Amino acid sequence: MLISFEGIDGCGKSTQIKLLKDYFNKSGVKTFVFREPGGTEISEKIRNLLLHETEDMDPTTELLLFSAARSQLVAEEIKPRLKKGEIVILDRFFDSTTAYQGYGRKSAKLSHIETLNKLATHHTEPDITFYLRIDPKEAAKRTQTGTKDRMEKSGEDFFREVCKGYDQLSRLKRFAVIDASESQEEIHQKIISRLDQVLN
Ligand code: TYD
Repeated sequence: MLISFEGIDGCGKSTQIKLLKDYFNKSGVKTFVFREPGGTEISEKIRNLLLHETEDMDPTTELLLFSAARSQLVAEEIKPRLKKGEIVILDRFFDSTTAYQGYGRKSAKLSHIETLNKLATHHTEPDITFYLRIDPKEAAKRTQTGTKDRMEKSGEDFFREVCKGYDQLSRLKRFAVIDASESQEEIHQKIISRLDQVLN
């Protein structure tokens, strides 16, 4: 089973992923968590370029690098694990590319991004995607401490567009939209009950 988490920076994905992993652990179910971009040696090298490069990066280069990192992760980790029937949890997947590069950066036509996503994922789709929805202003408050990476420096207008992208994607059947302004525990409970529905 493939579970993905999406949302803008500061939505609380990482906390929820940790809570979900602990929940599965307690029930004796092993899960595998990967972050995007990253998760393999090659993908982590690409991540470094994407998040910490100080030279100006062309938007198409950015789009292709996120996709390249993804392709390696899918080929090396995701596909083989799904084949074995394991549970894989993803901190971001190709919906991030649609929202960030498609709607945020407007790097390419959405139809081209859709095709690229299919290529980069080797046609793999999540069974369920949890979208932690938060207002960009609220998210910015949460991320204002600490150093910002290259993507986080993109500004509020950029994140508004990214949110529009996620709102469009939310219409897909596999999307579960969760209000990220609720408490950690409330959000966790909602995630568990939604997963129960999917598993049953
Ligand atoms: P990360 O530190 O993992 O942020 P977060 O904890 O919010 O997931 O950095 C990943 C950044 O890369 C984040 O700003 C979202 C962005 N991103 C894209 O722009 N496109 C993509 O396809 C992916 C996977 C991430």
